[in-house]
Amino acid sequence: MSKISILFCFIILAFGIFANGSENGLGIYEIKKGDFSVKVTNYGARIVSVVLPDKNGKLADVVLGYDTIKEYMNDTCYFGAIVGRVANRIGGAKFTLNGTLYKLDANEGNNTLHGGKKGFSEVAWKVTKHVKYGRSPYITLSYHSVDGEEGFPGDVLASVTYALIEPYKLSVTMKAKALDKATPVSLAQHSYWNLGGHNSGNTLSDELQLFASHITLVDDKLIPTGKIVPVKSTPYDFLEPHVIKGPIKRLPKGSKGYDINYVVDGPKGQKMKPVAIVYNKKSGRIMKLSANAPGVQLYTGNYINDVKGKGGYVYQSHAALCLETQGFPDSVNHPNFPSEIVNPGKTYEHCMLFTFSTKK
Ligand SMILES: *[C@@H]1O[C@H](CO)[C@@H](O)[C@H](O)[C@H]1NC(C)=O
Ligand SMILES: *[C@@H]1O[C@H](CO)[C@@H](O)[C@H](O)[C@H]1NC(C)=O
Ligand SMILES: *[C@@H]1O[C@H](CO)[C@@H](O)[C@H](O)[C@H]1NC(C)=O
Repeated sequence: MSKISILFCFIILAFGIFANGSENGLGIYEIKKGDFSVKVTNYGARIVSVVLPDKNGKLADVVLGYDTIKEYMNDTCYFGAIVGRVANRIGGAKFTLNGTLYKLDANEGNNTLHGGKKGFSEVAWKVTKHVKYGRSPYITLSYHSVDGEEGFPGDVLASVTYALIEPYKLSVTMKAKALDKATPVSLAQHSYWNLGGHNSGNTLSDELQLFASHITLVDDKLIPTGKIVPVKSTPYDFLEPHVIKGPIKRLPKGSKGYDINYVVDGPKGQKMKPVAIVYNKKSGRIMKLSANAPGVQLYTGNYINDVKGKGGYVYQSHAALCLETQGFPDSVNHPNFPSEIVNPGKTYEHCMLFTFSTKK
């Protein structure tokens, strides 16, 4: 090769790295079906954007996030991430399994949140498959978590597949195989949804329906007490659709909004069940979520405070809502909660299906 063509290649290469924000093996990948597209980064296997039309066909990106991977590496909100090895909180950052006490990384006061300081959301995943276009575009990412990572026992091979099926359906399939020791596993997809567009303000005017008759009560540090109580006639009752700004005002004093696990109604076990319907009147966008997890954390983005996001837009409290299907929080310390223990050689599987539509 001549000096000039070597230089030319170098420029292309450098520009390529710069153009998709890739560094240290980190990149942004797209899957696209017509005017429906999703971008994902392998940093934390995070959803970066979900673009789809409103009732007039106008496209918008309906998840909060950042423009660059550098900003994701600095993120404290878990925007779009796969969180694990165990999503949500573990009280006292410890649990006992088969007579052995495991001490975890305490990254929220004395408790563990979303797998510890360097959970699955803060590591580089490997892109193992990527089909950008076609009938069913998809991307699969995998991560090998080692024995003792953040205090958890045993090696775990985790993967997530994001796929676009039929117009405006996004499926998320999370798997995790315990390779050598029994370990708790509970993964969650932590996207922040704003169906009006990520930069459209707050979501309190959205109408929410949750197919969940009970919640797991928590203490003042958001650790479950073990009690499971009905939502009927409380501000947690979304069995019928409600515009969020109504009931949110009736939450206990001092509460900034919802951050609570609901027990999803329907049969126990691995069956897919309806979880939630969100309707944004202004855009006409509707999101239906079904999943096979026993619980769903409703989080109304209470702690978002001056977060500079995509296009320089600054996100504030209630700028989005999270519907994180998952096992019950702190299940490792509550024998009355569905078990999250995966035995050696067994595979955990968690499926979510988002169906988007519009109405005028
Ligand atoms: C990282 O976060 C800090 C504190 O919020 C902020 O000052 C800084 O600008 C951020 N850096 C990047 C690259 O976003
Ligand atoms: C952590 O636990 C210790 C001992 O129980 C207590 O004194 C301290 O206040 C706790 N810290 C937080 C942030 O809750
Ligand atoms: C508990 O320990 C026993 C004996 O070592 C073993 O057979 C069993 O598989 C263990 N169970 C779990 C959940 O690790």
